[in-house]
Amino acid sequence: MEAVQYFKYGHDDLKHVEVPIPSPKKDEILIKVEAVGINPIDFKIQHGFLRPIAPKKFPHIPGSDIAGEVVDVGFTVTKFKKGDKVVAMLGTTTGGGLAEYAVAKQEVTVLRPLELSAGECAALGTPGLTAYQCLITAGVVLKKDGPPMNILITAASGGVGHYAVQLAKLGNTHVTVTCGSRNIDFVKSLGADVALDYRTPDGKALVGPSARRYDAVVHCTSGISWSTFENVLTSNGIVVDITPSPKSITTSVVKKLSCSKKTLHPLFVSHKAEDLQYLINLMLEGKLKTVVDSKYNFSKTQEAWAKSMEGHAVGKIIVEM
Ligand SMILES: NC(=O)c1ccc[n+]([C@@H]2O[C@H](COP(=O)([O-])OP(=O)(O)OC[C@H]3O[C@@H](n4cnc5c(N)ncnc54)[C@H](OP(=O)(O)O)[C@@H]3O)[C@@H](O)[C@H]2O)c1
Repeated sequence: MEAVQYFKYGHDDLKHVEVPIPSPKKDEILIKVEAVGINPIDFKIQHGFLRPIAPKKFPHIPGSDIAGEVVDVGFTVTKFKKGDKVVAMLGTTTGGGLAEYAVAKQEVTVLRPLELSAGECAALGTPGLTAYQCLITAGVVLKKDGPPMNILITAASGGVGHYAVQLAKLGNTHVTVTCGSRNIDFVKSLGADVALDYRTPDGKALVGPSARRYDAVVHCTSGISWSTFENVLTSNGIVVDITPSPKSITTSVVKKLSCSKKTLHPLFVSHKAEDLQYLINLMLEGKLKTVVDSKYNFSKTQEAWAKSMEGHAVGKIIVEM
């Protein structure tokens, strides 16, 4: 089969190569890949961000969020059969998605309703679950009769942020976001109540026109200090940080040890099929959508990769087979 691989850490080009089709283990499914969602962690791993944990070995096939069709199943797989359309998360450090065929564990795979496209579902995995788990960690109830909350989402135009805005607005929330000036109309179309241009003084200070403090922040970019957050949080406000640095992890530990009411919570996504199923159901109900920044054919994966590395995607970058 054809696959995309890289051979060492660094900024090496991705190469299209011929490799054997993987065999599913007893609890795995072999999937003919139809679409892959590209995430910043894919190129970060290539650049050594998780060295030496990931990749586990070279050469490495990147890509962890896929949709496709089941072509074979291991002998303990009961939930899926040949011909099923599925969405799967292969594991951030494992990868294997940017290939004609990939193997997935059955416990991180769900059926794809035929009303939804492979692309919009492949895009959802990691960023959708991250957005959802951030909001749950922050105590947001995704129902209109939940407790009222004033929320800030940073980098709301990106892969994680654009799902976070839509999900947050399912709750009884007021949502302020940060984004670039060119994306203000876009994030408002997703439901944001107030959008701050991150390059302006108010955007940098995270202060909206009402100067109302936030009960929770879903932090999807980097480079914002704890002192900036502290100034805009309510007395028991929480920041959920998906780009934790050594400094912010230290701050979060200090806050915990000192029993601070304002807290900083680093979050690493947990790939759970039940969460993916919940989000797919929301998509079916028309309450959540994937906004596609750009689609690339598999043969142009390098271009999708370069686009992701630029860091200016609006919604999701998808590779289709
Ligand atoms: N911890 C976890 O489990 C986890 C899971 C998923 C993602 N992440 C991390 O979370 C980060 C976001 O992921 P993503 O997929 O959303 O990335 P992404 O799609 O590449 O985000 C790009 C968007 O971010 C906006 N942006 C960049 N800098 C900004 C700033 N300072 N303020 C406001 N907006 C800004 C860009 O707008 P402009 O073009 O206007 O600059 C662009 O629209 C990445 O670092 C990723 O690795 C972590």
